[in-house]
Formats: sequence, C-alpha cells, structure tokens
Amino acid sequence: MVFSIESVSKEYRSGTKVLHALDSVSLKIEDGEIFGIIGKSGAGKSTLLRCLNLLERPTSGRILLGDTDLTALSPAQLRDTRKRIGVVFQHFNLLHSRSVAANIAFPLEVAGYSRADRRARVDELIELVGLEDRRDAFPSQLSGGQKQRVGIARALAASPDVLLCDEATSALDSDTTDSILDLLADLNRRLGVTIVLITHELNVVRRICHRAALIDQGRIVDEGTLTELVADPDSPLGEALLPAGTVRTSPTGIPALLTFVDSLSTSPVISQLSRDLDVDVTVISGGIEDIGAHQVGRLRVEFASHTGLANDEETRKSVEEHLSQRGVKVTFS
Ligand SMILES: Nc1ncnc2c1ncn2[C@@H]1O[C@H](COP(=O)(O)OP(=O)(O)O)[C@@H](O)[C@H]1O
Ligand SMILES: [Mg+2]
Repeated sequence: MVFSIESVSKEYRSGTKVLHALDSVSLKIEDGEIFGIIGKSGAGKSTLLRCLNLLERPTSGRILLGDTDLTALSPAQLRDTRKRIGVVFQHFNLLHSRSVAANIAFPLEVAGYSRADRRARVDELIELVGLEDRRDAFPSQLSGGQKQRVGIARALAASPDVLLCDEATSALDSDTTDSILDLLADLNRRLGVTIVLITHELNVVRRICHRAALIDQGRIVDEGTLTELVADPDSPLGEALLPAGTVRTSPTGIPALLTFVDSLSTSPVISQLSRDLDVDVTVISGGIEDIGAHQVGRLRVEFASHTGLANDEETRKSVEEHLSQRGVKVTFS
C-alpha cells in the first residue's frame, strides 16, 4: 500500500500572522519500506505526522493510502481507515491503571473484538515484542524500553498497513534506542508493515531506514535512499549521515571529495591509482561506514602529481577517469 503525500501545506494563523508549518510537502512512501523523516526541532515533523493520519487537517494537499484519499473521507470512513495506520509516541501514552496485556488489548476492545479473539491476539503481540515475562506488569513497573515495546504492540494490534513513529526513541538511552530500532526493523521484515519514522536523530536514520527525507522550515530539502544520499556530493543529508568534513583553506595538493558505494572495499582503489598515475593521495577527513547493507564512503583527499602528469588539469582528468571506471565519484572543490 503506497502512502502518498501530495503537496501538503499547513498554515497556523494567530491574529494577522501566518506560520507555514508545512510548505507543499510531497513524498511517496513505498509499501514495506522504512522511511525516515529527519529535521531539527520546529521543522514541521510532528505537524506532518499529524497530517498523515488526519489528526490535523492539511490547509491544502492530499494524503492517499493506496487509492483512498484521506482528506476526502467522511468522519465515519476516516475512523475506519485510521485502523490501517498505527501510531507510536515518544512518551508511550500508556494507560497507567492497566497491565501490559490490558494496554495492548485496549484498541481491540474499541474495535469490538471478542474476549477470546482479544486474548489470542494479545498473546501473539506480546510474543512479537518480547514481553512474555511482563504480561501482568503495570507501566510504572516497566523500563522505558519495555514501555515502548508495549506502545509498539498496541500500535500493531489491529494489524495496520503503516506504523507512524514520532520520535519513538527520543526518550530512551542509546542502548535501548538500538534495541527498539532493531525491533522495528525486525517487525518490518516479519510483518511487511510500512514504517514512517520521524526523528531528529541521525543514528535512527543510519541504523534502520531504507530511504529518508530532510525537512527544514516545513519543506522537504533532500530525499533518497541512504546510499544515494551518501554517494551524492551535494546532499546535505548525505553529508550529515557520513561527514566528509570541510575543505582545507590552504591545500597542499588538488583537493577533492570521493564518494562511493561498495567500491573501495572490493579493491585497493586508492593505492592502485597512486601506482598507475604516479600521484600521491592524502586522505584529509571523512569516513567509510556500513549503512544499510552497503559499505559507503565520503572522503576528502588531496592529490599531488610528481613526474607523471604535466599539470593540475591533466591530473584532474586522469584521476577522474581512473576512479570513475572503478565506481568512485570524484568532485573537485
Ligand atoms: N497547533 C499549533 N498552532 C500553532 N503553531 C503550531 C502548532 N503546532 C505546531 N506549530 C508550529 O509549527 C512549527 C512546526 O512545529 P512541529 O511540527 O511541532 O515541529 P517539530 O515536530 O519538527 O519539532 C513550529 O514553528 C511550531 O511552533
Ligand atoms: Mg515534534
């Protein structure tokens, strides 16, 4: 089920002032993917998330879940369609007087499941999120990570097509964050549920997202698969995910940015370049990291030619040709 956001804008008015919280946001979230939306505080992330299930009505634009335009539904139809969208909150929003099992059962009660069906489904969900031994505990007796597991089980109770997570790990320490992210990735694989993650943490995107978009002042300013972003020398999100660093003010050679996916890992490309063209290659900054299933890199380097090539222009051309044949993109700065 593709989740499409088409030119969604949201304005807040106070007196004569108009705040454009969302400015013509368009995104297509594919069936079964984990899509990250990252941005600073105040960028419009929560507004966008609330528009996605129409808790907030966009000022203009459409939200389509498959063929269904959510903005065109009657209140009754909307209530029904919302069952296909689960929401996970930053502060868990659990019912404190109810046990783990009863919290997870709550949406099933509202949806009119029978007692027996509820019980069977709750057992399934508790196992899915690994809380078998906490079934009868109350929220006050749970750690943050366990609370979020309850929140996730509850969001999945009615088997939604899409799971929306608003800063779902922002209240957790880093180890717990990793375990919750791994759980979400596992649920995505096992259930095929599409996941939209709203976050201000790059780590969240790096660890589990297939694709991501950067939102700034209500606008999407960058978007792509993680490897596309990192391999794009002009991508601000790529640079944030895997910083290559800034250009040195007084370079000693020819400065360049190298970006690549799975290239340097398979062959010693840089030493070969150095040998073949008789140039020195100095790595200034940057890194190589496993992102998704790929090894990706962004490196700032400087080339210095000795005997081989007559001038900088010739060096640039030869280096570019040599590296592009081996899957490494060179941008001279
Ligand atoms: N109900 C509201 N009324 C007026 N302004 C709002 C409302 N909700 C959010 N905003 C404003 O919209 C902008 C985006 O907010 P928000 O979506 O909460 O950002 P984020 O979740 O990225 O931190 C902010 O400037 C915020 O003050
Ligand atoms: Mg927010």
